Amino acid sequence: MKGIILAGGRGTRLYPLTLAVSKQLLPVYNKPMIYYPLSLLMLANIREILIISTPEDLPQFRRLLGSGEQWGVRFEYAQQNQPRGLADAFILGREFINGEPSCLILGDNIFYGTGLSSQLKQASALTDGALIFAHPVKETSPYGIVEFDSDGNVIGLEEKPIHPRSSYAVPGLYFYDSDVSEIAQKIKPSDRGEIEITDINRYYLSINKLVVAPLGRGIAWMDAGTHEKLLQVSNFVQAVEERQGLMIGCLEEVAYRMKFIDKEHLKILSKQHIHTNYGEYLRRLVELNV
Ligand code: DAU
Repeated sequence: MKGIILAGGRGTRLYPLTLAVSKQLLPVYNKPMIYYPLSLLMLANIREILIISTPEDLPQFRRLLGSGEQWGVRFEYAQQNQPRGLADAFILGREFINGEPSCLILGDNIFYGTGLSSQLKQASALTDGALIFAHPVKETSPYGIVEFDSDGNVIGLEEKPIHPRSSYAVPGLYFYDSDVSEIAQKIKPSDRGEIEITDINRYYLSINKLVVAPLGRGIAWMDAGTHEKLLQVSNFVQAVEERQGLMIGCLEEVAYRMKFIDKEHLKILSKQHIHTNYGEYLRRLVELNV
């Protein structure tokens, strides 16, 4: 399975921070925001990843992430000239996907919790249809919302409904079979002028090939798209890391635990960050033999 991170868009709700730097490069506590979705793809055992961003921001992502070799993965980069909508990822990524199933994650979505890794590994085995998730939210207005019938079956999906039919939002993590690029190409722009991922999901629902899996309440899903949320997510990461002494979204650690790199390699990486808390964390991982 191939992975795509969509890390472009306007980031206007984070103005003026995003005058200087793309939103997905802003820090979430002690790491760039993009580390978190990237770690998730790696936990799903996805090693070929396309990073999509604006022509202005793409060089900064390249500088930060490089070829991916250091973490035992392979990155490709693609430009999105206009924020045409999330479905555009599969049009821009068509060649990269090359007829395989794929997973899209949004560059500002952060997930954390028990059982996530095994859920991700299962999801990345998908070969037919589509798999998305549903997670309860208090504020429904910024999201795609799922509609259920009285037996709990999914009967509809709506993008940012004024009158939501449930409080279950669709997080920015989507798994599709190899047909997705072709389907994306047929999507017409919505009233807000975007080609909507929700329309791709609706198509799969209409042919009875959409699975909507609940993300339990033990899993935290957050997006860092506003000043308030950026601070909340940073505080969340800080609180968990401080308490457990374990990092969230540490790419070197994930690469090591997923066996993408061996201990010798981890040791080399830890030395690159010497005299930092991050390097110290990696050094402890090497020594702890875990
Ligand atoms: O966060 C989950 C929600 O993401 C879903 O519940 C919605 O169904 C889905 O449509 C999407 O909501 P928004 O459309 O409001 O997402 P937003 O415009 O904030 O874009 C999400 C990320 O993708 C953001 O980091 C910017 C980036 N992006 C967005 C667009 C439209 C791009 O890189 N290119 C784009 O063309």
